[in-house]
Amino acid sequence: MRITRAFILLFLLISLMSLVIPVLPPIPYDYETLNLPAHFTADGWPIPSVTYWENTPANNAITNDGATLGRVLFYDKSLSANGTTSCASCHKQTYAFADSVAHSTGFNGGLTRRNSMTLVNTRWYFGGRMFWDTRASSLENQVLMPFTDTVEMGNTLPAILQTIRQQPYYAQLFQNAFGDTSVTTSRISLALAQFIRSIVSDSSKYDIGRASVTSIFDPFPNFSTSENIGKNIFFNTFQNGGGDCFMCHKTEAFVNDASGPSCNGLDAVSTTDKGMFESTGNNGDIGKFKVTSLRNIALTAPYMHDGRFADLNQVVAFYNSGIQLHMNLSPGLIDTTGGVSSPRVMNLAQQQIYGLIDFLKTLTDSSLINEVKWSDPFSISTSTSNNIDLNQAISLFPNPASDHFSIAGTKELDNRIADLTLFDSWKNRLK
Ligand code: HEC
Ligand code: HEC
Repeated sequence: MRITRAFILLFLLISLMSLVIPVLPPIPYDYETLNLPAHFTADGWPIPSVTYWENTPANNAITNDGATLGRVLFYDKSLSANGTTSCASCHKQTYAFADSVAHSTGFNGGLTRRNSMTLVNTRWYFGGRMFWDTRASSLENQVLMPFTDTVEMGNTLPAILQTIRQQPYYAQLFQNAFGDTSVTTSRISLALAQFIRSIVSDSSKYDIGRASVTSIFDPFPNFSTSENIGKNIFFNTFQNGGGDCFMCHKTEAFVNDASGPSCNGLDAVSTTDKGMFESTGNNGDIGKFKVTSLRNIALTAPYMHDGRFADLNQVVAFYNSGIQLHMNLSPGLIDTTGGVSSPRVMNLAQQQIYGLIDFLKTLTDSSLINEVKWSDPFSISTSTSNNIDLNQAISLFPNPASDHFSIAGTKELDNRIADLTLFDSWKNRLK
């Protein structure tokens, strides 16, 4: 292919090419159907049904076309101020939609104040408030905030509306999702929230074991001795030799307790980050943080709101003997033996420490991180299920160029693209 039209800064085109062509299936993927294993909705002690926790609002049930639009928005870097950052830059599918660093890098190189949160099982946060300090009242309100956050994406909502209206592929996606092509911030919010709520994790080693027993306290036949030891600690009360973990990490979705954020005693005094207090102003909320789902926890290191713990060994060491007597420490973590309040110390044997870590690792769901319907539509999926980056698959030469260039598919591309639309770095379609 030979193109003769003068334009400069062609080298930018290479990165834009991977932005401008989302590859979507002719019939949308199924986001609506929720085939939960029976244990998710079974109701009993110590695990209540997840259905009580559901936060989908009446006006935003998931549709396949709505979540498809949400998927494209989620991965679209052109929605940040300088075209470098998408939601997925900090919520990566490989890390269960969290990030692998304590503080993520935003559009302009700045670092986020807190640790990125996994987006898995978000639909089951009781009440639906979002962020570590729960300052967003719902997922629908939260999803617009990163666009204008001065560290994260640095954009303005009017600029985003304009960018979306200019991208040729969005009109059809809005039409499919909402019945006409009109682009509004409210529709962007609804679609993004639908996509995020569709991200559910329910197929781990834990689920296989859980489905094959009647009581959570039965040994799971597919678990090692160590994993079963850890499971018992997780689901037993402190009085029964357990860790009370299930009291705050609730339901089969392993989400925040319905009563909201709590203080698990990371610090004796909250200094720079006062948590929920920052959004409510109540002294009783100092040091309280929401916690995301523990599902896939082995993939979401580092841990806690500030990413202070590098691995699960450090987390378990903390719960074993590092809890601090914070003014708002959760009563469940206070030992009042002898009438004196002190932070609970578990005194776990080494074998139990390993067991708890091994148990947490059984919550990893490899189908989640490979699921195509939640993956980046701006990269092409091949039969070998490796994603091809368009930058690798297409070669442009000369590059940079000023008045003409040639484009060739590499062997990797394998004649997969029949239609190619080119844009210059100002998003004008090239003839
Ligand atoms: C530069 C990194 C970055 C980008 C880009 C980013 N996020 Fe986040 N996200 C974070 C961090 C950090 C937090 C936690 C912030 C806090 O609690 O103060 C977070 C929290 C969230 C939460 C709250 C989850 C919960 O359980 O409370 C949601 C939902 C979310 N982000 C969705 C998005 C969406 C949608 C986009 C794109 C429009 C996006 N994020 C872009 C870093 C990022
Ligand atoms: C009193 C409630 C409570 C109990 C009991 C509790 N946790 Fe937590 N957990 C929290 C809170 C709150 C956070 C988030 C704290 C923060 O980041 O400031 C958290 C965070 C975590 C994290 C890190 C999550 C992430 O995404 O970074 C892990 C792992 C964890 N807890 C495991 C456990 C285990 C294992 C037990 C039992 C030994 C346990 N928890 C007991 C409240 C609790």
